[in-house]
Amino acid sequence: MGQTLTVEQVDFFRDNGYLVLHDVLDPALMAQTRDAWWDAAPSEVKRDDPGSWVGAFPDSRFTWKYRDRSREPWMVELLYGNPKLQAVAKQLLGSNLKTPERIRGIYCVFPDTDTTPKPAHFHVDAHAFHLGVVGYVDDVPPDGGGFTIWPGSHKHFYHTFKTAYTFNPLEEEREFWDTDTYRNVLQIDPVHTYGSAGDVVLWHHRIGHGAGHNRSRRVRQAVLYDFCRADLDDIQDEPPPADMWKHWPGISEK
Ligand SMILES: [Fe+2]
Repeated sequence: MGQTLTVEQVDFFRDNGYLVLHDVLDPALMAQTRDAWWDAAPSEVKRDDPGSWVGAFPDSRFTWKYRDRSREPWMVELLYGNPKLQAVAKQLLGSNLKTPERIRGIYCVFPDTDTTPKPAHFHVDAHAFHLGVVGYVDDVPPDGGGFTIWPGSHKHFYHTFKTAYTFNPLEEEREFWDTDTYRNVLQIDPVHTYGSAGDVVLWHHRIGHGAGHNRSRRVRQAVLYDFCRADLDDIQDEPPPADMWKHWPGISEK
């Protein structure tokens, strides 16, 4: 069977820690997702009134993480069950993937009333997984609150943890964000992704990332899932291997 990702795409993912793929998600499942989200949206946000989409919400500011329907089979089907994503995950991680009970959810970023550019901020996720997927279920224009990535930062951060997947920084967490590694990543120009409904961003679990500043007039609607190898629970607390791609049979160290 042919490989889904080309050698160039795998090399890009290895070196940059992310990869954008186009036209991946199923249109009917995306439509179902949009409908579910609009049905659940706060009453002041009206689907047929774009003027009501702009601005911050109490408590959540500009983001809203909607998780209530993440266990529904069609939501799992949208990401985990997507044939191309399955093939990509198996190409990179091997054929033994963890079967999920849920995806992360639908993560939305509302347009800011202030469209002055703001500096982006990154973090590294605290839960254990291998391969993140951000899928756009509606069009995301440039500066539309797309997933933002500090390319290559996965290589900076990988060996700053005591464990391969759980969040145990070598430095105390309080000091983790005041290290040479942190300062080096700050020098990297972030990539602000955008795209059409159906596009996905793949990303490495230790990459620095954040939600983008939405300076458009559309709500950014993305679905998130984390592909995991079936043996994640067994290996997550091991020290990070010298070869950071040891658990990725589809990727060789350069
Ligand atoms: Fe995150």
